[in-house]
Amino acid sequence: LCARIVDDDLRFDCYPQFGANEEGCVKRGCCWKVTDTQNAPYCFYPPQYETYQFVNSTENKHGMTVYYSRSYDTGYPGQFSVARIDFNYLSNEILQIKISDAEHKRFEPAYPEVPMVFNSVSEMKYRVQVDSSAVGFKVVRNSDNVTIWDAQNTGGMILSDKFLQFSAILPTNYTYGLGEKQDRFLNDLNWKTHTIFNNDQPPTENVHLYGSHPFYLALETNGNSHGVILLNSNAMDIVLQPTPAITYRTIGGVLNFYMFLGPSPSDVVAQYTEIIGKPFMPPYWALGFHLCKYNYGSLNVTRDVWQKNRDAGIPFDVQWNDLDYMSKGNDFTYDTDKFSGFPDFVKTVHEAGMHYVLLFDPGVSASEKPGEYPPFDRGLEMDIFVKNSTDQPFVGKVWNRISTVWPDFTHPNTTAYWKEMMADFHRKVNFDGAWIDMNEPSNFLSGSMYGECTPEELPYKPISIAAEGLKHKTLCMDAKHHAGAHYDIHNLYAITEAVATNSALAEIRGKRPLIISRASSPGLGHFAGHWSGDVFSKWHDLKASIPQLLSFSLFGVPLMGADICGFIGDTTPELCKRWMQLGAFYPFSRNHNSDTAKPQDPVSMGESVVDASRTALRMRYRLLPYYYTLFWRAHIDSATVARPLFFEFPQDPRVYSIDTQFLIGDHIMITGILEEGANSTNVFYPGPNPWYSFNTGKQLAVDSWRSIGDDEMVAVRGGSILVLQEPPVKGPVNTGNTRSLPLQILIAPDTVGVASGELYWDDGDSLNSYEEKKYTHIVFKVKENELTSSIQWWGYGVPSINKIKVFAQNPIKTVTVNNAAATFSYDQKTRVLTILNINVNLDRSLSVKWT
Ligand code: GLC
Repeated sequence: LCARIVDDDLRFDCYPQFGANEEGCVKRGCCWKVTDTQNAPYCFYPPQYETYQFVNSTENKHGMTVYYSRSYDTGYPGQFSVARIDFNYLSNEILQIKISDAEHKRFEPAYPEVPMVFNSVSEMKYRVQVDSSAVGFKVVRNSDNVTIWDAQNTGGMILSDKFLQFSAILPTNYTYGLGEKQDRFLNDLNWKTHTIFNNDQPPTENVHLYGSHPFYLALETNGNSHGVILLNSNAMDIVLQPTPAITYRTIGGVLNFYMFLGPSPSDVVAQYTEIIGKPFMPPYWALGFHLCKYNYGSLNVTRDVWQKNRDAGIPFDVQWNDLDYMSKGNDFTYDTDKFSGFPDFVKTVHEAGMHYVLLFDPGVSASEKPGEYPPFDRGLEMDIFVKNSTDQPFVGKVWNRISTVWPDFTHPNTTAYWKEMMADFHRKVNFDGAWIDMNEPSNFLSGSMYGECTPEELPYKPISIAAEGLKHKTLCMDAKHHAGAHYDIHNLYAITEAVATNSALAEIRGKRPLIISRASSPGLGHFAGHWSGDVFSKWHDLKASIPQLLSFSLFGVPLMGADICGFIGDTTPELCKRWMQLGAFYPFSRNHNSDTAKPQDPVSMGESVVDASRTALRMRYRLLPYYYTLFWRAHIDSATVARPLFFEFPQDPRVYSIDTQFLIGDHIMITGILEEGANSTNVFYPGPNPWYSFNTGKQLAVDSWRSIGDDEMVAVRGGSILVLQEPPVKGPVNTGNTRSLPLQILIAPDTVGVASGELYWDDGDSLNSYEEKKYTHIVFKVKENELTSSIQWWGYGVPSINKIKVFAQNPIKTVTVNNAAATFSYDQKTRVLTILNINVNLDRSLSVKWT
């Protein structure tokens, strides 16, 4: 078999762990050939590696089941003797491919909870081809016969207790996703291995970070796209090679894939979130600007920062406190000396129309004496802590004085425990949101305080874990949860904590929860948002924040941002200014940094940062009705908020690798100045419709690159209608005092004078506003110089309109608003028509004409 020539690109690595050698290679039945191709494996599977033989298959209109029996000893212990593949035709676009042990039940994650009922299958967009003479299969898109996965002759399937491997050839070089990682947005196919295992690790390239998302979205060169998720919670490696091909290697569970046939990139994300859960609807205030720092060190400093940034007119909605508010680093306590008067301060924040968020770590202190720290005592009583192999609470250490234990959120009583703790503390400090950190879960001891972990005897260790072991910065893999061993549960810890925290906060406050989580896995976005963790205060990390943001859009977590100005190390005024200008448009916009770095709130950074922050954030606040409507679309239709350019322009290869600019919805493009010393940046404006400066209405470019300065970093796409709201001109600005002011409409027609847009509006804070129909939804259209509105649903009052702007307008003689003449002005230079001094209610259809 090894005599056959195999293209270097078609080699599938048979010896992925360190120390590959010819003898070991041949022993596995693989081929050994040295090659000059950089990174190509010397040891590879023979093209037909018959690990299994086809036994039989049955098919009906809902799917097909194929049985295989083992026919070759791959050398991996505990191989499945009989394997089965279930192809479930869940909908016309969604195919489940589940490869499992036909004879034994194995671990399967309970999160996300995949719904059981799907649309009936009428016109399947795909077909599955199984070849009875060989192991493997193909999935083909029916419309164009593109093979989405060719998993025949790709090294067989290796199915064993702690090593499950599967490879497929892909139809395209353009794949995105697979995380959490720090990298360019377009994945590198140069034999790149991505380890996935939740890890407390400041973002750097080539290491696994906080979250686990074995999801990729692939863009086929004809503009179609598809996506695949592997729902498996074990540590794994995913390799991309230039064939192009993908290899999955996981160390437990089953291979439960879902494939999404799109065909548009947005369709793929919508289909994916149908499986993992659609994004939660954030409260309106969560879309305001947030300010935090690790180690303000006292309430006085917190109050001072809060006050001076408000006074400086920085639009600002949410003050946060980090770890240092706690007494001895213990959850559900506060330092009554340094934070004396804490409850009153939170009251003051609320009275100012603002909100307040606190950090919670999952680790509960085991350092205090019995009777002195109820969260520990109650946890013991309710028996909800993660256990060690001898059924005692598993003890490690995080921020607490001596030792830490962890609530097991898979235990049926933990939701009640967590709610009780949150509610008790909420009675003292009236916080509005929870920041759930260190939930990989992180453990400074890398194992137990008492005794060694059971040695991790693994036939294969994912590459970036190999040196330090799975327990690195976390619990022993044999720690016990109600739902299984930490080995299997690890990646699910954060989502189970987010589920409990979300339901606790909803019940305690009776309002929409805001939860921001550091660790994540598929489905987190249904319960929480995310930020990219402990990034460095470096230009490199400013740039990296865009691919990170866009990746989480693919992962169904639209409420995402990076610590603005950077977390680790001192920022500089120039970097902080540029980061504020970009970060003002992250869906989740928070400035936060580490305990040892200098204060970096806008006011502490000096006038240039204050000015730039105020200007950028005022633009954000103007755009919030638009952002909010997009979050509603995400919540009901699984739309993305921040999107890569190719989502809107999938037919244009020039945008496939762009990750220095991004879209907010389909109407707005955001660019940043990402280079030190630069005052301008090159931006690509895809056609065929022109793009306009949001600020001036000036046409920027059509279907071309153009250099812009920092006054043009927000662009409006021709064809858009935006509903805007101007924040107060004087005094502190927050969403509370902005939301009651009049709205404006901005129209940027396309090349034939057409535009559209919509507004979703509710009270911004109640649970289930949409589900209970306490909202208003209005659609706007422009055609032949007339703007009309149509009310889709009216269930909540909307502010009136006081101004309308139309870009790209020829000189105008008359304007009517609901058939009455209206005042207007026309700027010849920018070609902007402004209709002023109107007061139009949206509760009936609108007609605005200009000629
Ligand atoms: C972690 C978080 C960081 C926080 C710190 C202290 O490093 O990622 O944001 O400031 O813990 O709580």
